[in-house]
Amino acid sequence: MATNSIHGMWSTRLAFILAASGSAVGLGNIWRFPYTAGEYGGGAFVLVYLLCVGMIGLPIMMAEIMLGRRGRQSPINTMRTLAREEGRSSAWQLLGWMGIISGFLILSFYSVIAGWTMAYAFRAAGGWFRGIDVTAAGDMFNGLVGDPERLLAWHTIFMVMVVLVVARGVAAGLEKAVRFLMPALFLLLLAMVGYGIQAGDFGGAVTYLFAPDFAELQGKAGEAILSAMGQAFFSLSLGMGAIMIYGSYLKGDASIAHNTLIVAGLDTLVAILAGLAIFPIVFANGLAPDSGPGLIFQTLPIAFGEMPGGALFGALFFVLLLFAAWTSAISLLEPLVAWLVENLSFSRVRASVLAGITVWLLGIVCLLSLNAWSEIKIFGKGFLDLFDYLTANILLPLGGVLIAVFAGWLLSRSSSVDELQLGEGLAYRIWRLLIRYVAPIAVAIVLLNAIGALKLTGLG
Ligand code: PFF
Repeated sequence: MATNSIHGMWSTRLAFILAASGSAVGLGNIWRFPYTAGEYGGGAFVLVYLLCVGMIGLPIMMAEIMLGRRGRQSPINTMRTLAREEGRSSAWQLLGWMGIISGFLILSFYSVIAGWTMAYAFRAAGGWFRGIDVTAAGDMFNGLVGDPERLLAWHTIFMVMVVLVVARGVAAGLEKAVRFLMPALFLLLLAMVGYGIQAGDFGGAVTYLFAPDFAELQGKAGEAILSAMGQAFFSLSLGMGAIMIYGSYLKGDASIAHNTLIVAGLDTLVAILAGLAIFPIVFANGLAPDSGPGLIFQTLPIAFGEMPGGALFGALFFVLLLFAAWTSAISLLEPLVAWLVENLSFSRVRASVLAGITVWLLGIVCLLSLNAWSEIKIFGKGFLDLFDYLTANILLPLGGVLIAVFAGWLLSRSSSVDELQLGEGLAYRIWRLLIRYVAPIAVAIVLLNAIGALKLTGLG
């Protein structure tokens, strides 16, 4: 077994935690979680989400880190090497390829949304939010989304930022970027929750998020469960190799279970805090929780517009959100860049630029789907929505099941005991139960149910 990756290693255990939580915490927590929870009525969705994180997300995250650390290469080569060592089919490397495709699709729309964040940071700093009401906030958002040139400019700037960090490599680029940004984002989010307590309808938000009302799911329970599971995969960066490759840079003596608990715990905390920051404002201003992907961009400006120092806080908030998106985007590009370096002997810089340009082109398709191409629909969705749906709800869970099956059934028991370093006690046995039975069966049921529903609507 290789003890080091050729791409470099995290310098300390803290560096891994920061990088992995940098990957996990991003637009998924602060932009996607609140509006998806809002679409499915709040509490019931949140409950299913938490169950998915605990029963499916945690064991799969451990498995991904474990496989990555054992293989010490890009996900494609890691899977090929491990499959060979365990006497399994080399077709398992396809799992790595599927991850590359997922990463491409995700990053193409992720970058566009990160662009919105950048635009809003400037708007906040420029005092655009002062005294803004619900209608003006809505108009401001629609103005941005309807302007392809502006979206293209922000998308381009963001992709350049991503390529710059990935090109610098693991220790120099990735580690430095996350060290200060994550704690700062966390503090600012706490301040926003404080504002919600003081000026918003905090009680309403707490009830909305934590008192499940299952009647809200009437007629759309299957869809809600699929979305909650998809959100868990997306938010924890699972099922595409991002966490696997970060695991491949983790030193041999670090505890995988410990690190997983910390990363998943932080990620969940940030999502809940985001909900507690946003929904008090939603309810205090009579906004609809189910207003979709524009939710945070239509609510937070109202709060920043009212609070003292709002221009500063607003700018800071969107800048930090931008950094959270940045540290996630890096992990979406890394698996492919590592593969290009390993297999085609590209320099890291060249690999990053090539991967970045491809994603940038696909991102243009996404941003046009919001305006000039808004008429083009596939399965009733524009490209951006389609890529989001396809990756979060289908490709990532599918990747997750395959990881679970490989780690739980095909990798020998002694290999997983050796790598997880939990001994063979209760913790290991719980993990093994979850990874062999609970996670794959649960994901399979939810996916099959979704496919069934798709067929029914197709036929109906
Ligand atoms: N976890 C990131 C977020 O919540 O914003 C998005 C993401 C990153 C998804 C990396 C998947 C991934 F592999």
